[in-house]
Amino acid sequence: MNDQYDSRARYEALMDVVRMRMTTRQFDPGCTVPREHYELILEAARHAPSGANSQPWHYIVVTGPETKKKIADYFVEEQRLRAKLRMKFPTPNYRGLETAPGMIVVVADFRWTRAFPVLMDGSDLDRQYHDNAERILLQSVAASTMAAHLAATALGYKVWWVTAIGQESAQAAMKPLLGVPDDLSVVDIFCFGPPAKPPYKRWKKSMGQILSWDRFDPKQHLSLEQIDQWIHEMRHKVMYRDESKVD
Ligand SMILES: Cc1cc2nc3c(=O)[nH]c(=O)nc-3n(C[C@H](O)[C@H](O)[C@H](O)COP(=O)(O)O)c2cc1C
Repeated sequence: MNDQYDSRARYEALMDVVRMRMTTRQFDPGCTVPREHYELILEAARHAPSGANSQPWHYIVVTGPETKKKIADYFVEEQRLRAKLRMKFPTPNYRGLETAPGMIVVVADFRWTRAFPVLMDGSDLDRQYHDNAERILLQSVAASTMAAHLAATALGYKVWWVTAIGQESAQAAMKPLLGVPDDLSVVDIFCFGPPAKPPYKRWKKSMGQILSWDRFDPKQHLSLEQIDQWIHEMRHKVMYRDESKVD
């Protein structure tokens, strides 16, 4: 009975952190993150589950303001390129990267896909297993990164998960700045710190929209038209507005 009470209290404490995790894209630059906080945050990342327990991640803490500025410059430029390409994605202001008191670059080692079920014979079947191996690897790195985001939230910071760096050109720009070996990949950048403006809770799907019991609820199977309509009418709102301002 006592244990039941403790588990519920523990769940509530966890959910407090889960609910408090919010994205901010502009930070109070006056804050200095103590070295201990980086270690507490990455201690959470270290305990994450991963396919074959391969732990295919590495974290680079970026403390130098010049490096942060160079990274921000790259993103601002990339944002201009996207605008020229008429990608229509509601791109945020990446200048905010420069102001992030905490910055951790997430590096993945895709060679670890060899540790997952693959045939290694170049066959079509092997390719299918390799595709799945990449998913396993990305899910593993995301699990670890998410643990870090929650730990930073527990320490009172707001967070920013930046993934706009998968393309070859972005990799080529980022790796020399951080001394990342060529055969590794920079998968995302984790920024955190006190927010420059009050943070806000973004819209989340309801439980009914994300949960089915026993069989997939056909009502939740959206058509391509419905998805496109959501992108057109809702995406910009759910990304940049308070949940109460999304209809
Ligand atoms: C896998 C992943 C990739 C993301 N990539 C970016 C990104 O490249 N740039 C950005 O500004 N935000 C990025 N975000 C942040 C999302 O836009 C944000 O989590 C979402 O709008 C929900 O807001 P919330 O984090 O406050 O709940 C990413 C988040 C995740 C989990």
